[in-house]
Amino acid sequence: MQVNIELDQSVDRSYKVLIDELVGLEFDTKVVIVTNPTVAKFHLDEVKSLVKATKLDVITIPDGEKYKNLETIEFILGECFKLRLDRKSLLIALGGGVIGDMTGFVASVFQRGIKFIQIPTTLLAQVDASVGGKTGVNSKYGKNLIGSFWQPNGVYCETKFLKTLPSREFSAGVAEIVKMAVTFDRDFFEWLENHDIRDEENLKIAIAKSIKTKARVVSLDEREAGVRAVLNYGHTFAHVVENETEYKKYLHGEAVSIGIVMANELALRLGLLSKEEEIRVKYLLQKYDLPIDYEVNSAEDFYEHFFLDKKSHNDMIKFILPDSIGGYKMIDNIDRSLVLEVLKDFE
Ligand code: NAD
Ligand code: GLY
Repeated sequence: MQVNIELDQSVDRSYKVLIDELVGLEFDTKVVIVTNPTVAKFHLDEVKSLVKATKLDVITIPDGEKYKNLETIEFILGECFKLRLDRKSLLIALGGGVIGDMTGFVASVFQRGIKFIQIPTTLLAQVDASVGGKTGVNSKYGKNLIGSFWQPNGVYCETKFLKTLPSREFSAGVAEIVKMAVTFDRDFFEWLENHDIRDEENLKIAIAKSIKTKARVVSLDEREAGVRAVLNYGHTFAHVVENETEYKKYLHGEAVSIGIVMANELALRLGLLSKEEEIRVKYLLQKYDLPIDYEVNSAEDFYEHFFLDKKSHNDMIKFILPDSIGGYKMIDNIDRSLVLEVLKDFE
């Protein structure tokens, strides 16, 4: 015997990402802004003045990736209950990717799911983390392995908020922009080569271009069954770099920059990328002071570390490689010896 559960497919979860259009937000519900002291010091007053709600509260959590864990989620949930939020209440994530990922996760589980809005304040969060609905926390089992897909109900990217961002953090965001240009958009890559996105107007263009790319990818493959994995270009190597350096030496975007360079070396050997293209990508990363070198201690150990990554299935490592600039290939049967050759060049 079989009973079919027919679910309503018509619920529209689409949303808008607005760039520099945060003039006011009005809700007839309780609203809570989740932020940290660093971001609050610079931008909380302004955001509070723009939000009208039945009741507006703020939950502040400590700043840092090391607080991106279930303990902090429990704390935020506890505060939500103390503030008597209900199923109609709404959360606002005000901060970088850490705040966004955790606020989204809380929104996905509080009373089985409530609405939330992203106001990303780092470049990385504006061009990548705030869009696409990946939420979650780190645990002893790995980074971002506990979480959910829960789309925000709107994203507001205010480029003026980036003015207070340390330049290293800005560059870390640039690495994710380069990632999207190299794999999806040759024209955008060439535009980046010829423009400096530290300039305000260029920055807006680069953010908009990146968000459009991310939006297209997420619309095609929300749950990462296929093309969304391309957004992990550079990340397979980057995760090992972050792991080996205990998340202390490099910001995530800096490790992605190194990972892009390593992936490109592999693409070069496979004939997917020309030497000239490989140099152009390095040059673009260097323009924003991003690291392009890494000293591999042992190529064999580095290779073994790939298997700690959630993207390796059944002992196969899926490499996302550029296929010329502006294209990509996902390959999971590359000879170990070829990868080791690349890694040995970094020893
Ligand atoms: P972050 O959130 O830790 O922010 C970096 C630092 O900048 C923090 O100290 C923060 O307090 C500070 N900061 C934020 N905005 C500021 C501002 N306007 N002025 C001054 N300081 C400011 O780091 P991040 O790079 O934004 O995000 C990294 C996180 O995002 C990681 O946890 C990563 O896993 C996650 N991520 C998620 C996705 C996704 O799709 N959900 C994608 C990429 C990354
Ligand atoms: N940052 C990768 C993704 O959103 O899928």
